[in-house]
Order: sequence, then C-alpha cells, then structure tokens
Amino acid sequence: MMYHSPVLLTASVLGLNIRPASVYVDATFGGGGHSRAILNTMDGQSKLFAFDQDEDAQRNSIDDPRFTLLPHNFSHLKRFLKFHQIDKVDGILADLGVSSHQFDTPERGFSLRFDGPLDMRMNQQQAFTAEAIVNTYDEAALAELFYAYGELRNAKKIASLIVQNRTTEITTTTQLNQVLANVLPKGNEHKVLAKVYQALRVEVNKEMEVLKSFLVQSKEVLKAGGRLSVISYHSLEDRLVKRFIQNGNFDSEPEKDAFGNPTLYFKKCGALVVPEAQEINENNRARSAKLRIAERL
Ligand SMILES: C[S@@+](CC[C@H](N)C(=O)[O-])C[C@H]1O[C@@H](n2cnc3c(N)ncnc32)[C@H](O)[C@@H]1O
Repeated sequence: MMYHSPVLLTASVLGLNIRPASVYVDATFGGGGHSRAILNTMDGQSKLFAFDQDEDAQRNSIDDPRFTLLPHNFSHLKRFLKFHQIDKVDGILADLGVSSHQFDTPERGFSLRFDGPLDMRMNQQQAFTAEAIVNTYDEAALAELFYAYGELRNAKKIASLIVQNRTTEITTTTQLNQVLANVLPKGNEHKVLAKVYQALRVEVNKEMEVLKSFLVQSKEVLKAGGRLSVISYHSLEDRLVKRFIQNGNFDSEPEKDAFGNPTLYFKKCGALVVPEAQEINENNRARSAKLRIAERL
C-alpha cells in the first residue's frame, strides 16, 4: 500500500521559491513526497528540516546529509529549529491534516469505512483518544464540538444520540456508525458521518490550536522574503490560513499602529490554487485541497 500520494506537489514547492544556500521546513513530512521534491530542487549548501508527530512517518525518512526529520508536533517549530541552531528560515511548507496511511490503517480509527477503535491520534504517544471524547464529554460539549469542528447543523441531535447510547461504552467506529445511523440523511450518510469524524479528529489532535501556534511561529522564523506554502483540506483550516496571511492574526482586521495604519506581515503570492481535474481523477483525496502561498514582508 502506498503511504501517501503528495497533493499539489509542483505548485506548493514552486511556491517556496527555492534559492541557493537556504533553509527550508516541511512541517508535515508524512510519506515525504513534498520533502523529496524540495530536496531535488535545493542545492548542496541548503538544509531541510521536516516535522511529523506520527511515529509511522519515521519509516519514510530520507537518507540525505541535507535532511533532518524531527519526530515532533509542528507546534514546537521554533524550539526544535533553535535546538539545531536555526533562528530564521527561507521557506516553510505545510500539507495539513491526515495522510492516506493514517486514513487507510483501520487500527488508527480515522476512517468511517473500516471497523477500528475510536482512536484518531496522530501522535500515538498521546493518551487522549476519540473514545474518551465520545464516552466522557457531556452533551453540550459534544454538541459544541460537532457544530464548531464538523459544521453540522444537527449537532445537538447527534450529541444527544451519543449520550443516550452510552449504556455500554462506544469503543469502535462500527458502534459509532450504528448509534448515528438514524440521524443520517438517506443518500448522504457518508457526508454527514465524515463531518462527525472530522470534528472528533480535530478535537483529539487539537488541530486548530496547533495550526494557530504554528502560523504565529512561522511569522517569527521566516526571513523577509521567505515563503509560506500551506495546503489545507477543510474550511476551518483554510479560514485560519487565509486570515493569517491577510491580517497577520486570526481576527477580521490587521493590527494597527498609533496612526491607524495596518501592520502587515505577509504579501499574498498569486491566487488560491486548487488541483486540476486530472489530479483529482488520479487522487481523489486531492479534491478538497486548497493551497495558499505568501511572502514574509
Ligand atoms: C497530509 S499528510 C502530509 C503528506 C506529505 N506532504 C507527503 O507528501 O507524504 C499530513 C502529515 O502531517 C502530520 N501532521 C499533521 N499535523 C501535525 C502536527 N501538528 N505536527 C506534526 N505533524 C503533523 C500527519 O501525521 C501526517 O503524516
């Protein structure tokens, strides 16, 4: 089984505007598709640091003296770059979310298509799983989670069904699918369930919090003229990335100086990039990808 097929490979790596004797970061190594393309474009004096919190990704590490794989969450970007005596970098790429390997391994519990434990941890060392959420969050917290991270209109109904069915622990994907079977609209079952799974996964891995922390640190470590190239797969992520590039923060407006002039940190490079029909035909997982590229001012 292929570990992962890289999405928007050419555009995202071109977006880094790779130059000689420079330092790059691949924040989401996975199967290493983007890292390999970056290494193929870099010269002998350049360096690439890659992060991945999933220990399975380490098996894809690349034997190249210019390459270092850091088995950590990208929310520790600055800390681990500093450990390697790096203060500033020339480009950062992030291909957010879950790899095909994670989705396609039933024991990881990411996919509603397979029977597996309600796990969904990207970092297997973490204790907190989707099972803990499903069995211990109160009804209001569950409803809020499904509404905020799944954008589900019937979030309250879904939460209430889960709580009513907790007479025995809900421990597997199959059990969860059965509990929710009655609220799933006919013909659209998978779409709604996929949103429930997305919400649980975002909560298990604190995806919104770590993405925010990563973006703020990117702003701090990128040199002027350095590039940020980010691929996201759902609107919650994309909204954060878009706002951050526009405003340098997660609010609807940029910070202003004493004279009311906006303080800008990034310049957008080109328009939003989405995959061509051919890429989607060859790799269905590319269908929701959105690439944003920006240059640090
Ligand atoms: C979509 S895949 C990246 C695939 C990769 N670009 C490739 O070409 O194979 C996302 C990867 O990022 C990792 N990941 C997601 N969030 C992370 C985080 N906060 N810190 C570190 N790694 C993360 C996941 O474990 C997964 O392996």
